[in-house]
Amino acid sequence: MNEKLPRPTRALQKKFPKVWKSFQELGKECHSAGPRDERVEDSPHGVYASPEAHMSVSKAVSLLGIGRDNLRLIPVDDRFRMLPAALEQSMRRDEELGITPLAVVATAGTENTGAIDPLAEIAEIAGKHRGWLHVDGSYGALAAMAIPDKFPGLARADSIALDPHKWLYQPLDCGFLLHRNTQTARAAFADSGD
Ligand SMILES: Cc1ncc(COP(=O)(O)O)c(C=O)c1O
Repeated sequence: MNEKLPRPTRALQKKFPKVWKSFQELGKECHSAGPRDERVEDSPHGVYASPEAHMSVSKAVSLLGIGRDNLRLIPVDDRFRMLPAALEQSMRRDEELGITPLAVVATAGTENTGAIDPLAEIAEIAGKHRGWLHVDGSYGALAAMAIPDKFPGLARADSIALDPHKWLYQPLDCGFLLHRNTQTARAAFADSGD
C-alpha cells in the first residue's frame, strides 16, 4: 500500500481492489489518448486565434485531429485584441506552404480581460482566405443586445458560441451555437445529413 496516497484513496484501494485496478487502467488509457499536437488528418489545415482565446479552442483543434501545431496564435495589441495585419500575414504564409486556412476563431469578450477582437476586419480577412469565421461570444456576445456598437462585424460570423449560463444567469449549463447557414450545420451534425 502506498502511504503517500491520501487516506480515502488508500481505503478505496484496500476495500475495493478491483475498482482501484480499473481506475488505474482507465488512467493509463486516458494518458495514452492524451492531447495530440500533431495532425492526424490527410491534408494540413490552419486554425487562427489569439493567445487570449479560451483553452477550449486548442482542445477542439486537438480533438478534431487538426493538430495543435496547426493552431496559429496571432499576436494581440496593447488591449489584448487580435492584430488583423498579423492574421493576414499568417494566413498568407500558410497558403504559401500548402496549408489550407480552415477557420478563424475570434473572441467577443475574452475570459481574461473582456477584450473584443476587431470582428469586422477579421471577417474581411477570413473571407478573403475562404476561412470559416467562428466568434467565441460565450462570455461577451450577449452584451451585443445592449451595446451593439461595441461589436461591429459580429453579424458576419459563420457561427457564434454563446452561453446563457453566463450573462443570462441560467442555473444549468446551457451553451448555444448559432449558425449563419442552417444547411451546413445540418450537414455537419445530422446523422443522415450527407
Ligand atoms: C470566452 C469564453 N469561451 C468559452 C468559455 C467556456 O465556457 P463554458 O465551458 O462554460 O461553456 C468561457 C468561459 O468562461 C469563456 O469566457
